[in-house]
Amino acid sequence: MLKEIFEGPEVVEAAMRGRLNPANGTVKLGGLEEEVEELRKKSALEIIACGTSYNAGMVGELLFEEFFGVPTETALASEYRYKHDAPMKNAAYLFISQSGETADTLAALRKANARKCLTLGLVNVVGSSIARETTAGVYNHAGPEIGVASTKAFLSQLTVLTLMALMLGRKTAAAKMIAAELAKIPKKIGNVLRSADSIMNLARKYAGYHDFFYLGRGYNYSVALEGALKLKEISYVHAEGYAGGEMKHGPIALIDERFPTVAVVTKNALYEKMISNIEEIKARRGKVIAVATIGDTMIKKLADDVIYVPPTVPQLEPMVNVVPMQLFAYAVGVGKGYNVDTPR
Ligand code: BG6
Repeated sequence: MLKEIFEGPEVVEAAMRGRLNPANGTVKLGGLEEEVEELRKKSALEIIACGTSYNAGMVGELLFEEFFGVPTETALASEYRYKHDAPMKNAAYLFISQSGETADTLAALRKANARKCLTLGLVNVVGSSIARETTAGVYNHAGPEIGVASTKAFLSQLTVLTLMALMLGRKTAAAKMIAAELAKIPKKIGNVLRSADSIMNLARKYAGYHDFFYLGRGYNYSVALEGALKLKEISYVHAEGYAGGEMKHGPIALIDERFPTVAVVTKNALYEKMISNIEEIKARRGKVIAVATIGDTMIKKLADDVIYVPPTVPQLEPMVNVVPMQLFAYAVGVGKGYNVDTPR
C-alpha cells in the first residue's frame, strides 16, 4: 500500500501523458474521440461506481457541471442497479472502476446497455468486463493496483475525470488555467509525500482513538469520504465522512474529547465555512487535525494538529489533499499490527 501511495505522482503523469497539452489547454482522449459529438448533444450525465471509484465520481460530478456545463449526478452502482428509476432521456452514463470487474458496477452497466444508453468507462484494467462492455472509454494507465484499498487508482481517476471535463467543455480561460495547473500536480503530490514521516507520526499519536469524523466541503467533500473509507477499510476504526454543512444536523452531538475530526480546510471559497465548523467542534472539546494550505498560520491557533499541503486550484485540491488521508490510514493500520495490503 505504501509503495502504491508513493506512486501517486507517477500515475498522474501516466494518465496525462500524450493526452494533455498544458500550454494551450488542449486534451486528446483517443478512446472518447468518436463519441465527442454525441456526448456534446447530451443534456445529463450519470456517473456510477462503488467505493473509492464512487468518491472519485463525486469529484467528476463537480468538474463536469463546472466545465462541461451538463447536469451530472453520481450514483452508487449497488443502488442504481436495483432501483425502479425513470430512465433519463438524453443522458450519458459513465462507469468508473479500477478493476473493471466489480459486480454491482457491471450489473449497473448492463442495465444501462439494455436500455440502449450511451455508456462510457473509466477503467484501469485493460480488457476487463467493464472496459469491453461500455460503448467507449478511457483507461487510467495506473499499472496494477495490488493493495485492496485503492490509493493510486483514485489519483489517476481524478486525473482522467479532469481531462474528460476539459475535453468536453469550452476552452475558457478557467479551463486553460486548470489544464496548466494539472501538469503541476505530480510535483505537489511529491511535496506532500516528502512529509510522509511526520504525517505518519501524527497518525500514530491518534491511533488509540475509536471514532473519527472526516469533514470537507465542495471539492473536498469527496476527500472526507475517502479519508474515512480508508481508515475503516484498513485500520478497522470507526470513521464517518461528512459534508461540513451537515454536521449541525445531528452528527455534532457525538463530538467530545474522545471523538477527533480530520478537517480539510484548505484555502478556497469555502474556507470560512470550514473554520466555523472547526469552531463548533472546538466548542465541544473535540480534537481537530486540520489539512491546511502551506502558509496558513491562523489555523494553528484553532486546530490541535495541522498537516500542511501545497496550494492549488479548488478543482484539483482532492488530488493533493487525499494523500495525507491515505498515509494517515496506512500508519494507523500498520501501527495496530494489521496487514493493510489484504484487509479483512
Ligand atoms: C472494493 C475495494 O471492494 O471495491 C475498494 O475494497 C474499491 O477499494 C471498490 O474502491 C470498487 O472497486 P473498483 O475496482 O470497481 O474500482
